Amino acid sequence: MDSSIHPHKNSALSEFSWDGIVPPKPAEPAKVGLFRFIYKATRRNPSVDTFLTGFLPHLKMLPTVAAERAVPGFSTSKVNICDLPRGQWATPLVDTLTVIKAAKGFESKRLLEIGSYKGSTALLLAQNTDADVRIWTLDMDPQHGEAYRGTEYEKRIHRVVGKATVGALEGHGSFDFIFVDADHDYASVFEHTVVAFRHLAPGGVILWHDYHQNNYLHGANGIGEALHMVSKKFGRNIVSIEGTTLAIYSEHLDWETASLESYDDSPEDSDPWSDRKIRHI
Ligand SMILES: C[S@@+](CC[C@H](N)C(=O)[O-])C[C@H]1O[C@@H](n2cnc3c(N)ncnc32)[C@H](O)[C@@H]1O
Repeated sequence: MDSSIHPHKNSALSEFSWDGIVPPKPAEPAKVGLFRFIYKATRRNPSVDTFLTGFLPHLKMLPTVAAERAVPGFSTSKVNICDLPRGQWATPLVDTLTVIKAAKGFESKRLLEIGSYKGSTALLLAQNTDADVRIWTLDMDPQHGEAYRGTEYEKRIHRVVGKATVGALEGHGSFDFIFVDADHDYASVFEHTVVAFRHLAPGGVILWHDYHQNNYLHGANGIGEALHMVSKKFGRNIVSIEGTTLAIYSEHLDWETASLESYDDSPEDSDPWSDRKIRHI
């Protein structure tokens, strides 16, 4: 691993400071209790969870923007995909494609994936970026990364084994592109996000997977609440990308999410022929 390749990107950690306390999860609306009761009564049927979660707008408080407004060159950049993401935890293709387009569009050079699993996304990022791009993958499972291990791309991917806590990436410098996709409960997402902000290079970009959660009632998914809390507590405008399950924060010149507001995705625009929304699968 040649970390001298982009010395200007390998600056010290950002000034981002955190008191070490995860703020308490906001109180849930009263109807969540009723929904949980119904969900349990149906023997924790995932379809019931998905259906009822759709009635919980407090989970989707971030502004939503079209992908073209959040990612440079979104509708023109080319992505090569040979194999598809593998395994039940792998990021689905629409989101993977958007993550790759973001890394390309922002011309990122030092990439970090927090929660990497088999490494499908890391491999696709390596396959779709220039030879001087370096990727770090952090995952607590020592076996992570089978997708790229033994391939020609392995030399550009720096595998780190450990929990995504503050300090886990000490000595690895900062990153101009960070993809957060590890534990999904409220406190973990909050902490992983703090780690990401601490390691974000000036002008950098963070993406989160699974912001658009559709399975809240089983209890292990607090991404919406955590990102909303981070956004408020640290004054960072995180937005969600329409048609994906992703959220994004960007300081990149001319693409700062600080300047983005929700755009009008009202149902009036429901003519299937004029609709340009990404179809979410
Ligand atoms: C949803 S999978 C990641 C999928 C991957 N980003 C992809 O695109 O294929 C979540 C991964 O996060 C890891 N993980 C969960 N909690 C973690 C933590 N606290 N610290 C580090 N890794 C964690 C798991 O071992 C798992 O491999």
